[in-house]
Amino acid sequence: MELKDQIKDYQAEISAAEIKDATELEAFRVKFLGSKNILKDLYKELKDAPNEIKKDLGQAINALKLSAEEKFSKGAKKKDFIQLGAKKLDYSRPAEEVALGSRHPLSIIRNEIIEIFSRIGYTVSEGPEIEDDWHNFSALNFPPEHPARDMQDTFFIKKGDNEIALRTHTSSVQVRVMESQEPPIRTISPGRVYRNEAISARAHCFFHQVEGLYIDKNVSFADLKQTLLYFAREMFGEKAQIRLRPSYFPFTEPSAEVDVSCTICNSEGCNVCKYTGWLEILGCGMVDPNVLEASGIDSQKYSGFAFGMGIERIAQLKFRVNDLRMYSENDIRFLDQFKSAY
Ligand code: PHE
Repeated sequence: MELKDQIKDYQAEISAAEIKDATELEAFRVKFLGSKNILKDLYKELKDAPNEIKKDLGQAINALKLSAEEKFSKGAKKKDFIQLGAKKLDYSRPAEEVALGSRHPLSIIRNEIIEIFSRIGYTVSEGPEIEDDWHNFSALNFPPEHPARDMQDTFFIKKGDNEIALRTHTSSVQVRVMESQEPPIRTISPGRVYRNEAISARAHCFFHQVEGLYIDKNVSFADLKQTLLYFAREMFGEKAQIRLRPSYFPFTEPSAEVDVSCTICNSEGCNVCKYTGWLEILGCGMVDPNVLEASGIDSQKYSGFAFGMGIERIAQLKFRVNDLRMYSENDIRFLDQFKSAY
């Protein structure tokens, strides 16, 4: 038979083929598309065909191949359909549950703090966790060898002239902001900080802080107090009261520690507030003029306040978690409890 007629015959066979089941599909595949398919023979014969009809014949074989492939894929779809039917899928079965994660309690509190301050115009600033001596200490008015450096047990990475350490507070970010921005400045810096302390229920070698900084003309201690009262009421409820106790930080003068009225016992006295009715939540003060000058801000023209709080501490009060270690152990039974918190 001439090649031309052979091609025609196969084309007719392919068009007429009715693939009814998987066996027929496989037979079709072997004949037209398998490793020893008949098309290969046709291509071989094509080599000896006269030149003037070679091109046409070649195209005809290609077309044959395409229609074989098309037929096969149609048949394969049908085959799937047959198999699906055989398995008797139950479309009414409930879908398998996908376990949803939950926000970490510290993230919940951090986001809440950020929201509260963003409502009164505070931006969020971030900085490196590995800091140099300047940003963590010197620019914050900690003179070299000053005992105040011992207030924060530091993890040093590099000792010597230009000491490198894990930041002990996010006040370091505030220095970076003051160095790079002109007042008015109104920003908070949330982040992880590190201190060389033995790990126990009440202390950890790392924890999280949010520190705030406000610098402008004529900023007063009254502004600080009102800002903190606003924060306490947003965080702990309308009835929350604050009280300020004199304290000391090298970078603020005057400095204070702030207590919030115990929301657990309504200030009547309980074991959380140790029967005082008050809970310590943060440190604050007016930014020391030395700190402003060190970052290139004119302390004659500008004044400001700063405050800093531990996120774990706030979370502890809101969620009544007494052991700090829980926050970093990633025990799923602990974390799961915050699923419905927000
Ligand atoms: N940086 C202080 C600390 O880590 C907190 C603080 C910030 C105090 C700002 C006063 C002003 O303990």
